[in-house]
Amino acid sequence: MVDASKKPQKPEPCCFVIFGVTGDLTHRLVIPALYNLAESGLLPDKFCIVGIARKKMSDDELRQSLMDGLNKHATRPVKKNIAEKLLSCLTCLEASNDDPASFDQLSKSFEKLEKDKGTRGNRLFYLAVPPSAFAPIAEQLGHAGLLREEHGAWRRLVVEKPFGTDLASAKVLNSKLLKIADEHQSYRIDHYLSKETVQNILVLRFANGMFEPIWNRNHIDHIQITVDEKLAVGHRGSFYDATGALRDMVPNHLFQLLSLVTMEPPARFDAQAVRSEKAEVLAAIQTQSSEDALKNSVRGQYRAGKVGDEAIEDYRKTPDVKSNSTTETYAALKLTIDNWRWAGVPFYLRTGKALGIKRTEVAIKFKQAPFAMFRDTPVDRLSQNYLVISIEPTEGITLQFNTKVPGPTVSIDGVEMKFRYKDYFKTEPSTGYETLIYDCMIGDNILFQRADGVEAGWQAVQPFLDAWKKAGADGLVGYKAGSEGPEEADELLARDGRHWRKLT
Ligand code: BG6
Repeated sequence: MVDASKKPQKPEPCCFVIFGVTGDLTHRLVIPALYNLAESGLLPDKFCIVGIARKKMSDDELRQSLMDGLNKHATRPVKKNIAEKLLSCLTCLEASNDDPASFDQLSKSFEKLEKDKGTRGNRLFYLAVPPSAFAPIAEQLGHAGLLREEHGAWRRLVVEKPFGTDLASAKVLNSKLLKIADEHQSYRIDHYLSKETVQNILVLRFANGMFEPIWNRNHIDHIQITVDEKLAVGHRGSFYDATGALRDMVPNHLFQLLSLVTMEPPARFDAQAVRSEKAEVLAAIQTQSSEDALKNSVRGQYRAGKVGDEAIEDYRKTPDVKSNSTTETYAALKLTIDNWRWAGVPFYLRTGKALGIKRTEVAIKFKQAPFAMFRDTPVDRLSQNYLVISIEPTEGITLQFNTKVPGPTVSIDGVEMKFRYKDYFKTEPSTGYETLIYDCMIGDNILFQRADGVEAGWQAVQPFLDAWKKAGADGLVGYKAGSEGPEEADELLARDGRHWRKLT
């Protein structure tokens, strides 16, 4: 992990191979992140980029396209000399997953390149391609022996979410990939783990003595996880209509937050220990019957409205979305974790598109103090005690507690103690991918998902997927774009005598 206080070590020489080099992800995130690493002096001294295209392009043509992408998407002012140096080490090669011979050819090309560039055979294969191409490309890499670690060289495979579309497909994908690359070679990216505030959850919990003793069912009333977006589905209709809010966000991003907040303390701060605890707690999420899954969830779909000044069309009018679609653009769930620490504590999760506000936060609500002592005073109620971990757009931590209002009578009001990252730390604007790419190069997979964690996540959401599929249009509720989401999501908590924290 990039440590802002110490200058991190430079990675060993390596060849960074990008499948899908002409695509959006490469232009928007991967190259800008490599640029930022280059600017911070964190690329290996001996380094090369190989872009794999289905149709051969000249190196110069590809360089120009990536330079244009960098100028458009860079998070910092682009220094020409650094950008040119970075892209000068780029080579474009041609391969197609339906042409095994092209992968054999790659093998020969790599050997030659590696000799010229001195990258010692270390290779990082980054699959910036649609999920349907993960297994076919990996299989070809495997057949051509390109992932075999030999003569002291490492070979790593990076894939992006989604890892499957349900439990069964995730298992199939994992088992295919694990036949080709070992777990230690596999880097499954969930970009939520690149967020500083998400990484900080572990530090907050385990590097401070005061939180852990109260981090359990004796003191915590419930936990809310919110990932609300203003963005509507826009041009992603075809992907989104087949996916929906639950698949797109919950088993991955929301469960990363959930697992970091609820896992047991790992014995060591290393990939094996941390990922085992995360997988363990996800596996302890109680499996719900179909009846309970319907009772404990809300599915919404946005209708026409306005987000800020922008008019948003009804979801069903989005290009490439079926006019009678029952895909949810909003999901709220109530979950429980079946272990000693969390028994009886509800977890409320919500996420949606085209909402009035963009907010990502984890709110931990502590149990109310007994009111008895204030019964004969003018105090009529105590405010709630929340610890709020704000992830976006504000990055920080807020503690809400009660305090006496100055004056001769006993009057109490809720106040906030706030920590904001930007007030304490100076950081360079980044894509978020720098840490992840750097970690792949140094071989630290603590911030990447392990196969068992991925499967545990799907297992927990599978009852909802099944119950919703069976229910079809029944139970799907509309909400106005620009609103706070469906009212039914409020009822989910109101039934338990609780309410969502007001997002401001
Ligand atoms: C992606 C989803 O994984 O995460 C998108 O596919 C979503 O639909 C995005 O908008 C949210 O990421 P962030 O970092 O903006 O919260």
